[in-house]
Amino acid sequence: MRLILVSNRLPVQWDGTPNVGGLATGLSSFLSHWKSQGNEVLWVGWPGKSISEKEQNHYANQMHNEHGTIPVFLKQKLADSFYNGFCNKTIWPLFHYFTAHCEFSDSTFNSYEEANEEFAKKIREIYQPGDWVWVHDYHLFLLPGILRNEFPNILMSFFLHIPFPTFEIFRLLPERFRTKILKGILGADLIGFHTQSYTQYFLRSLLRCLGIENERGIIYFQNHLTKTAAFPMGINVEQFSKYANSKECDSIANQINTNHKNLKQILSVDRLDYTKGVLQRLNAFELFLKQNPDWIKRCKLVLVLVPSRTDVSSYQSMKRAIDEKVGAINGSFGTLDWTPILYQYKGFPFEELVPLYKNTHVMLVTPFRDGMNLVAKEFLVSQKNGMLVLSEMAGASAELPEAILVNPNDVSGMANAIKEAIEIEESEILKRNEVMISRLKENSVMDWANKIYYETEETAKRNLNFQTKSISPKSDVLLPKSNRPIFILFDYDGTLVPFQSLPHLAIPSKELIESILQLSKFSNVSIAIISGRDRKFLESIFTDLPLHLIAEHGAWHKPPDLTEWNSLFYSNVDWKKEIKSHLDEFTKRVPGSFTEEKEFSLVWHFRNADPDIGLNAAREMLDELSQISSNSGFFVQRGNKIIEVREYGTGKGKAARKILPDIEQETFVFGDDTTDEDMFREIPENAITVKIGKSETIAKYRFHNTEDVHSWIGSLINHLQAVESNAT
Ligand code: UDP
Ligand code: G6P
Repeated sequence: MRLILVSNRLPVQWDGTPNVGGLATGLSSFLSHWKSQGNEVLWVGWPGKSISEKEQNHYANQMHNEHGTIPVFLKQKLADSFYNGFCNKTIWPLFHYFTAHCEFSDSTFNSYEEANEEFAKKIREIYQPGDWVWVHDYHLFLLPGILRNEFPNILMSFFLHIPFPTFEIFRLLPERFRTKILKGILGADLIGFHTQSYTQYFLRSLLRCLGIENERGIIYFQNHLTKTAAFPMGINVEQFSKYANSKECDSIANQINTNHKNLKQILSVDRLDYTKGVLQRLNAFELFLKQNPDWIKRCKLVLVLVPSRTDVSSYQSMKRAIDEKVGAINGSFGTLDWTPILYQYKGFPFEELVPLYKNTHVMLVTPFRDGMNLVAKEFLVSQKNGMLVLSEMAGASAELPEAILVNPNDVSGMANAIKEAIEIEESEILKRNEVMISRLKENSVMDWANKIYYETEETAKRNLNFQTKSISPKSDVLLPKSNRPIFILFDYDGTLVPFQSLPHLAIPSKELIESILQLSKFSNVSIAIISGRDRKFLESIFTDLPLHLIAEHGAWHKPPDLTEWNSLFYSNVDWKKEIKSHLDEFTKRVPGSFTEEKEFSLVWHFRNADPDIGLNAAREMLDELSQISSNSGFFVQRGNKIIEVREYGTGKGKAARKILPDIEQETFVFGDDTTDEDMFREIPENAITVKIGKSETIAKYRFHNTEDVHSWIGSLINHLQAVESNAT
């Protein structure tokens, strides 16, 4: 299996310098394992700086040969506007709830689109069918959509390493940006997030922005099915714990500790980023020293800040503020023989980072907001008796509740947490760490990647199944194979006519009525319109047409040659009055919704309601009605933006069976909704069944929309005319 991993950041830069950041470090440790199982990997990404055209070949060869990476070269201006601009001045602050840092600019968004196209170009050059393409993070939201258009069967996952914000935050993006972003991600077969909450926020944004619903995390969009789920990223536990227990690690740990052996070490390790809450952490440390003078000269804070995004002004100002604060604390608390904060503005390699973790008594990980935070996990598996103080805003806190959890905005709460952590009994630390470490062992970065691969493959299989049903309305497969009588059943809404905002607006064109009339004139053709609509409506639309009309899901039937309606089932609507009052309650509560009353059924419509409020109310209604329906003689069914309550025992499937003559014939059935699935299920096996639209179906074939149905009617007329003229 060949994996094409795509991320803006590569594990190493153009000049071989390793990159620090959860994405690069986390994925690198998974890749070594993946390759050891005989798989091939190509890692596509930006080399970290713009390279002149004449040097590009040289660097491309060098990077490929030495690290197996494939650079996507971006011109300086484009890289600046894409990376510093849209990625780090719009999406990063917005998705971390730093709205005041956000800039919304058309020109940086254009660069974002252009850069995503550049990535697509590179993948086009190397992609071979059968590859697994795995796109990472917020720099490349549009890439899955571009690739899906070009390679409809590509096996593709997308993983977001940062939080997905709530809808109220996401909607701050101008509509044209957010629409393209959401549609872009939907190109993937699988979309993974670090936590369940981020997944829910994404699904809600899809619903609110694009009106796209999901079925337990599965989304149908543009003839493609995408699964969303939470996959908390793990770390390579074995690599960390093995090294942490090595002699080499011990000797480095002793060496770096020589001068402060008697001091308890508090550690803080981050990229220098305003999301990491470093200033608040320093304030908390200062308060801790003020409130606990007995700890002066008995502890030290090792503050590691890795330079990051240094061209972005908000990062520069954050650096200045931190420098000042460190200076102020060291100045006021330090003495000639003790400095409270040991400040390191640089990144450490793995071999030095692990000894630092190992020497630590209190690890402070207190971001304002963090997608996951791997440092917290790495610390836990690199030592035994150090206490983790963790922000409840970090994705990792969902998996590590035994840590001392803090709110990063609460400085005095954090100062108390430092005291608690530094003074806590060792036996208590060991107990808590043991639970967390065993949890981390169960979800290593390899397990994480394997799960993502497995789910992507499963979803791709479902997609294949879903797509193979799609058929052209002009296909010969959908034409009669014999000269036996033909019986056609059409559902009405969503099948013959598209949905409109109000039911009475959904009426067929003159052309459609003429085609149905023309079709009905062939002596061997019978047509039935089988609908949930009431008698009056169907009669008003199909007056004088020689059709079977079936209203209210089979409660009423009017054969072509009669003017009277007859009832297909014994009906008793004792339940109607009480249920109508339930539905009316919902109508009052949900603006834009309304209740429709028919003779044997009630329908609650929420198409024009706020999508979120409508859907939530519909779920509540379904739940409530299903509980009372069991012995009450009625049946509740969810349809396309409606909930229908009707007489138990009625249904399109049973009605269809009652009107189909018991003779050898060719049967065709068209429908779009859940109620039509009953027909697909109950009519004879050899019938041709066609589902209109997305979502799962048991029908044999699928049309995209109502126009496909019209086009099929046209093809059938042509076919029957040709048969007739051949016969004469
Ligand atoms: N890291 C490192 N050297 C350092 C500091 C950090 O290699 O001096 C690594 C650390 O091991 C971790 C990653 O950088 O794997 C940071 O990932 P995290 O998820 O904590 O934060 P992010 O940078 O992704 O926001
Ligand atoms: C976070 C992001 C990564 C990014 C890393 C370092 O972890 O999720 O996509 O690579 O920070 O940031 P940088 O801008 O240097 O790539």
